Amino acid sequence: MSTPNRDDIRKKIEQELASGAKSGDKQKRRPQRSQKRQRPDSKPYINKKLQRNPQGIRPGKRPPMGIMTTTLWEYPSQHYDSSNSTMQGSKDYIGATPSWVIYQLLKRYTKENDIVIDPMCGSGTTIDVCKDLNRKPIAFDLNPQRPDIKKNDSRKLPLEDDSVDFAFIDPPYSTHVDYSDDDRCIGKLDAGQQPEHDDEIMGHDYYEAMDSVLAELYRVLKPGKHLGLYVSDSWKKKKGGQPGEGTFMPIGFELFAMMSQAFTPVDIICVVRHNTKLQRGNWHKAAEEENFFLRGFNYLLIMRK
Ligand SMILES: C[S@@+](CC[C@H](N)C(=O)[O-])C[C@H]1O[C@@H](n2cnc3c(N)ncnc32)[C@H](O)[C@@H]1O
Repeated sequence: MSTPNRDDIRKKIEQELASGAKSGDKQKRRPQRSQKRQRPDSKPYINKKLQRNPQGIRPGKRPPMGIMTTTLWEYPSQHYDSSNSTMQGSKDYIGATPSWVIYQLLKRYTKENDIVIDPMCGSGTTIDVCKDLNRKPIAFDLNPQRPDIKKNDSRKLPLEDDSVDFAFIDPPYSTHVDYSDDDRCIGKLDAGQQPEHDDEIMGHDYYEAMDSVLAELYRVLKPGKHLGLYVSDSWKKKKGGQPGEGTFMPIGFELFAMMSQAFTPVDIICVVRHNTKLQRGNWHKAAEEENFFLRGFNYLLIMRK
């Protein structure tokens, strides 16, 4: 098998990274063993243990989970050690949410036995955090990964008005992850799509779909209760463009503005990303040479009905 050259690496980076794809995608795209042995000297050394866990902290020995008190959140692992598990959701699911982010929200905005909905629950991270904290999860996804998640398009929720105590959602951030073949997947809608009419914004279809999802969450939340939305901005290089030429998609700002029309904004948290890709020297080199930024943080937008 031949060693990937600089152009191959750069092309892959442009497709995958500038976007904000999340931690789980490392699992699928890890090169084969034979490829790894062929690492040319010019590539930076990668410590495999640190790749798995940035600060080398093993399950069962992670820092205790306290309540974070500033608007800048960081934790050295995707998961935290609870009394009954060392993993919540699945590290193998592309785009799985860091479970400790959900833990922080549930500790602040819910109490025991509260009903928590996650309409895009993926690998079930929210369910596992709810179990750890004695909350009652209701979980949906178009591509459910386990039996306790019901298949459902989140633009229409099979729930009564004013019936849940908290909502968490980590939606697709444009088209960077291929979640499923289902045409209704919002991850198939490009947040950088150019407008077709004068009165349309860029990414019209993506935002229209998200508007429907957020309207449903508003409907099912009890008055005075909270919603947490975890999202990243995105950037896509122009095909054949010069360094720096591309489309910036301010998804966090757009969704914040959209939600503010109905909800009351509570706060914006900046969550530091510990994506293993951010530790790879070649991605940083490309970001410099191609004049784009790697996504270093996600927004956590907190709203109240
Ligand atoms: C970022 S992932 C969520 C990850 C999840 N929080 C976890 O920790 O595993 C986004 C999810 O949105 C789901 N999704 C996309 N469009 C959807 C739709 N219209 N209705 C329901 N789920 C959808 C995808 O299948 C994917 O699982």
